[in-house]
Amino acid sequence: MSAGRSRFTCHRALCRPTRSEAGAHMVNSRIPGLKNLTIEQRRETVVRNSPLSTEDLTAWDPATGLTLDAADHMVENVVGVLGIPLGFAANFTINGRDVLVPMATEEPSVIAAASNAARIARASGGFFTSSTAPLMRAQIQLVDVADPAAARVRILEARDELIAAANEQDPMLIQLGGGVRDIEVHLVDAPGQTYVVLHLIVDVRDAMGANAVNTMAEAIAERAAQIGQGRPLLRILSNKADLRLARARAVFAADELGGTEIVDDIVHSAALAVVDPYRAATHNKGATNGITAVVLATGNDTRAVEAGFHSHAVRDGRYTALTRFEKDADGNLVASLEVPMAVGLVGGATKVHPAAQRAVKMLDITTATELAEIIVAVGLAQNVAGLRVLATEGVQRGHMGLHARNVAVTAGATGKEIDRVSARMVAEKAIRAERAAEILAEVRRGQS
Ligand code: MEV
Repeated sequence: MSAGRSRFTCHRALCRPTRSEAGAHMVNSRIPGLKNLTIEQRRETVVRNSPLSTEDLTAWDPATGLTLDAADHMVENVVGVLGIPLGFAANFTINGRDVLVPMATEEPSVIAAASNAARIARASGGFFTSSTAPLMRAQIQLVDVADPAAARVRILEARDELIAAANEQDPMLIQLGGGVRDIEVHLVDAPGQTYVVLHLIVDVRDAMGANAVNTMAEAIAERAAQIGQGRPLLRILSNKADLRLARARAVFAADELGGTEIVDDIVHSAALAVVDPYRAATHNKGATNGITAVVLATGNDTRAVEAGFHSHAVRDGRYTALTRFEKDADGNLVASLEVPMAVGLVGGATKVHPAAQRAVKMLDITTATELAEIIVAVGLAQNVAGLRVLATEGVQRGHMGLHARNVAVTAGATGKEIDRVSARMVAEKAIRAERAAEILAEVRRGQS
């Protein structure tokens, strides 16, 4: 990935960003003091450090973002649009390239935590990422097959015919270098019968891939059923995208984390998550705090990515953590994550939602694989940040300030009142709606 401006061009039916004039835009993602800047100053920082123009940023304004009309074309029964805060994580350097990462989340502390972990990793070279080819699976379920074992072999004999028929559905994908790579036939024992399940394995290039593989599965299901001598039932992608993996690794210096004891405690915390599903769920939630925020900001399918994440976490029959934490020979923390990442650049909300388009543009990427790798790097950073806080001060201290502000707003505080009410609640360690109302009344009476 190299630094450069990107713009949107249309490749026939598929519209995807392309990077142009490599090097035209030198990005420096290391931005100290970000939280003390005004929104306007942060926006200037974004324009200086990404291909986005000032005009682009209007897509993130509540008044000029997704219109009701556009929303009405996206889903059914529309009555409005929902605003979610969109910020960006700073300090990320990924494979030697600096990038500002858009994150959409309602949870306080998430964006700051990712930025903080990225700052620490940056001192050791940042994040290094890699991935498999963008392979998705579609499943075709055959029921009432009398001889499942023989049906499996008959279907495998017809491999070339089935692949050719599936590929006919998407000439554009073939032209772009994608298409069906292989088939598998699984025999799945269920109560009552053994189902024959044909898997189509499809390289979906820069798409998330659901539409492409579902169309293929529907198109060849009858023929597969004829060969298998059963009845075709389900024809749908699998969100267990275990052939479409993205990976990230980074080193976090012990000194920067706060010392070798903290490295040891982070490794202990992570070790518990590997063996204890109760802890694994929360540990994985920490990683998905970052993953989902980038997936959402870029208009991708958060449920598909989370389904892929959690199905991978239980792939050996026991739910476990997906990140791995080790201490290297120098006593530093080494963290790594490998996870299914079914995200795209060319379809769905990524293509039609103006805020998502600008988020992709901010990243200055040209392929879905680059997006997947950035998302995994953010997930890894988020996980490290969460464990570090847990191994030191605990989560409540950091949450308190923003939580207090939310409570103050809920109690009716506006403008400068918000700071005054929330600061008092934090000082009193009493962050409650009724206390916010009392303090607000005092502030308004001029007693505070
Ligand atoms: C909170 O949203 C996420 C954490 O609970 C993650 C974790 O426990 O590792 C802090």
